Amino acid sequence: MRPPVLHRKSIPFFYDKSPTEFQKDRYERYDPSVIRQTALHLADDLWKKYPLQSVLDFAQAYLPATPQSITELGCSVGRWIATLARAYPEANCWGLDFSYQLLKRGREFWVEEKMIMLNSAHLGFSGIQMLRGQALDNLCFGLAKAADLPFEDNSQDLVVHSFLLDRVADPAAALREHFRVLSPGGIMVFITPLNFQEADLWEKYYPAIKIHRLLEQLGFSILEWRDDLEIVEPLDARGNSVVWRTIGVVVQK
Ligand SMILES: C[S@@+](CC[C@H](N)C(=O)[O-])C[C@H]1O[C@@H](n2cnc3c(N)ncnc32)[C@H](O)[C@@H]1O
Repeated sequence: MRPPVLHRKSIPFFYDKSPTEFQKDRYERYDPSVIRQTALHLADDLWKKYPLQSVLDFAQAYLPATPQSITELGCSVGRWIATLARAYPEANCWGLDFSYQLLKRGREFWVEEKMIMLNSAHLGFSGIQMLRGQALDNLCFGLAKAADLPFEDNSQDLVVHSFLLDRVADPAAALREHFRVLSPGGIMVFITPLNFQEADLWEKYYPAIKIHRLLEQLGFSILEWRDDLEIVEPLDARGNSVVWRTIGVVVQK
C-alpha cells in the first residue's frame, strides 16, 4: 500500500487536499454534512431501523465467502464498511472518503468507541441522542480520491460504494481505478442514483446502459444489473423522505 502523504489526527491522507479543496467541499461542513450523515447512518433509533438497510441487503447475495481485503469508497461515516468489518473479522477493511470531517466521525465511532452526542431537533426529533461507538480492530479510515486509490494492483477482494459515482469528477477514471485494484475474481458492488450535477456527465453516462457498456469495456463481468432499485432516504421526524431511483450493480474482475 502507498504510504500516506500526511496524517491529521489519526486519519492518513493519501492525497494532499488543498485549503481551497477543503473550502469548496460541502461534505467538510460539520453542520449540516457531518450531523446529517451521523443521523442517517449511526442513529437507527431515530428511524426505528437503519434507513439504508436496502443498500446492504442488495449486496448480501454476492459477498465473497472469505474476503481478505475489503474497501468502501465514499464511505462517509463508515456504516457499510463497519458492517462488513464486523461480518468478516479476519479481513483487512478500509473506509476511504474525500472528506476529513466524515472520516474523523467514522473513526471516532467505529474504531475509537467514542460516545457521540447528536441533537436532531432541526429534523423534528426531541431530546439528545447518545450514540455509543465500537472498537473494530480490523477497520481503518483514510482520505483518498475514488479515482486514485493507495492500493496495489489486484489487491482488493471486495470493493463497495453507494451514492458516490455521480459525485466524482470522472466516473470512467474512477471505475478504471476500481478495476485496477480489484483482485482477479474480486467483486465490486455499487449503487448510484445517477443524479449528476453537470450537464456533460448526464450526456456521457445517461441513460444507464452507457454505464453497463463502460463496465464491459473496462473488462468487468456483470453479475447483477438493477435499473430500478428504489432507496428511500428519510428526511425528518414527520416521515418526509426522498426516493432515489438507483442502479444496483454487481461486477466481477
Ligand atoms: C452522497 S455522499 C454518500 C455517502 C454514503 N456512501 C451513503 O451512501 O450515504 C457522497 C460521499 O462521497 C464522498 N466523495 C465525494 N467525492 C469523492 C471522491 N472523489 N473520492 C472519494 N470520496 C468522495 C463524499 O465526501 C461523501 O462522503
